[in-house]
Amino acid sequence: MEVREDWKATTVYQIYPRSFMDGDGDGIGDIEGILQRLGYLKWLGVETLWLSPVYASPQRDFGYDISDYRAIAPEYGTMESIHRLIEAVHAQGMRLVMDMVMNHTSSDSAWFQASRSHRDDPKRDWYLWRDGRGKDGKKPPNNWRAMIGGSGWHYEEQTQQWYWATFLPFQPDLNYRNPAVKRAMLDHVRSWLDQGVDGFRLDIFNAIFKDASFADNPRSWRPFPSEDSPEGFFQRPLHTIDHPDTLAFSKELRAVLDSYSHPSRFLVGEVFGSPEALKRYCGEHADGLHLVFLFRAMRTAFRAEAFRALIAEYEQNFAPPLLPTWVFGNHDRARSIDRLGGDPHRAALLAFVQLTARGVPFLYYGEEIGMTSLDTPFSSSLDPLAHHYGWVPDLLWPWMKRMGLFVHRDVCRSPMQWADAHHAGFSGTKDKTWLPVHPNYPRVNVDAQRKAPNSLLWCYRRLLHWRRLLPCLARGEMRLFEDKRSRRVLLGYERSLAGEAWRAEIWLNFGAQEQALPAGDAPVAWFSSLEASVEEVAWLDRGVALPMLSEAAPLVSRPTRLRPFEGVLLVHRYE
Ligand code: NOJ
Ligand code: MG
Repeated sequence: MEVREDWKATTVYQIYPRSFMDGDGDGIGDIEGILQRLGYLKWLGVETLWLSPVYASPQRDFGYDISDYRAIAPEYGTMESIHRLIEAVHAQGMRLVMDMVMNHTSSDSAWFQASRSHRDDPKRDWYLWRDGRGKDGKKPPNNWRAMIGGSGWHYEEQTQQWYWATFLPFQPDLNYRNPAVKRAMLDHVRSWLDQGVDGFRLDIFNAIFKDASFADNPRSWRPFPSEDSPEGFFQRPLHTIDHPDTLAFSKELRAVLDSYSHPSRFLVGEVFGSPEALKRYCGEHADGLHLVFLFRAMRTAFRAEAFRALIAEYEQNFAPPLLPTWVFGNHDRARSIDRLGGDPHRAALLAFVQLTARGVPFLYYGEEIGMTSLDTPFSSSLDPLAHHYGWVPDLLWPWMKRMGLFVHRDVCRSPMQWADAHHAGFSGTKDKTWLPVHPNYPRVNVDAQRKAPNSLLWCYRRLLHWRRLLPCLARGEMRLFEDKRSRRVLLGYERSLAGEAWRAEIWLNFGAQEQALPAGDAPVAWFSSLEASVEEVAWLDRGVALPMLSEAAPLVSRPTRLRPFEGVLLVHRYE
């Protein structure tokens, strides 16, 4: 069966539903709110929406602890509202991707409640239960560490056994070696595909299978895991992470998705490790997950050389038919603009990389207006991960942070800043919103930037639209320019697609000084990250065709200089 691959050219916008838009005035974002703001997302030009979990959940980890995969949490809406959303998104020509937490359920789920009730319960083997060690069995079954540090084994007095949880204790891991579990979870997947969702983001997919031997993990010297390596807490997670059976399962899941070919659906896996390790999830024959998140860009130094090296590494490991992903933020990391000193010009330059380099871009809500992290005390954090680390003395935090441990996730989940209005236009409630709105909302908000064509918001909008206009950006090949003189501050590359009329030349100045643009052909048009040209504004707002769209477009003069932190995209016509 022919499987269409249009997911390869898409752009993804992550919505954290609790924080995007509150439609019913209870201070919590919801599906109704998303429906109200679909017009904005269409205006912005993103093509796929990914929703963090909206399923029924006790919300101890704000939805990443699912108690019922076939129901919607009442604060977000109902099954009827999610169906309306799927339909409305499709009617706009966009797609909707749901989050799928396959590794674990909430401890409140009916499955786990049954499983924990009795050793002989039919659902006992749906989770990972083991006897403890030591003479009274009060020592954990082995040395395995949870992904968040500490033992992942939790003792239950009632049945005198331990259950395994990769993440927090209220998120018990399912036992995928039990065929009934696998069947039940794949049924959930199919059921949502049948209801029209266009794919899934797979939560901690690298942890699905644990080794059947339950042998101890080898020791290691690394104190903390990172995006680049799951090794940490002084052990190598040989038996708990990246198990060969998990890699095999990615193919099984892919086959399920591929049986829904019109329209094509896709999977993106949350997995951690070097690009080289991660690509294994995509399968040797591109028959595994369609995409995996690549998180390295979030930590890449703001230097041309560093991004050149990163692109080269992505190109090497994710050469066609594979495709890299471009991620600068999500609901688990500090806001990406923080490390750029809050500077929208630098942020626009990274947006240029994200939307013009080869790969599928993932934008995190608010990134497009340069929302910064919320300064809120650790001690009052709502994030269960922060509580998990509550014992760490304040003095140690700067060091832990430097080591890459980020556990106070409230800071990147504050409400979307729509306007200089009550609760930033996020909610009509007279009370508090679930997390406070960032105090910079009078300056940093959608309304203000919508009116300013030179804003960061417009830069994203323009980039998103060029991607649609120029197939070479969305689907083309990529070639890095080697310019020895300027490689410290200038990054240049070309995107081209066989059979297409246009190719794109991109130059980015990572320096605070003006730079000469290397000589080259005159383009038919060029765009700058710092300001929108009159033609672009007219094109985007009134649908007026750009002159370059005509075959007979005259050449324009090539820019000669790049201002500090300026990126330019030059459009050339093939002879
Ligand atoms: C990764 C998710 O991104 C995070 O938010 C969540 O807490 C854990 N997985 C556990 O599901
Ligand atoms: Mg609400």
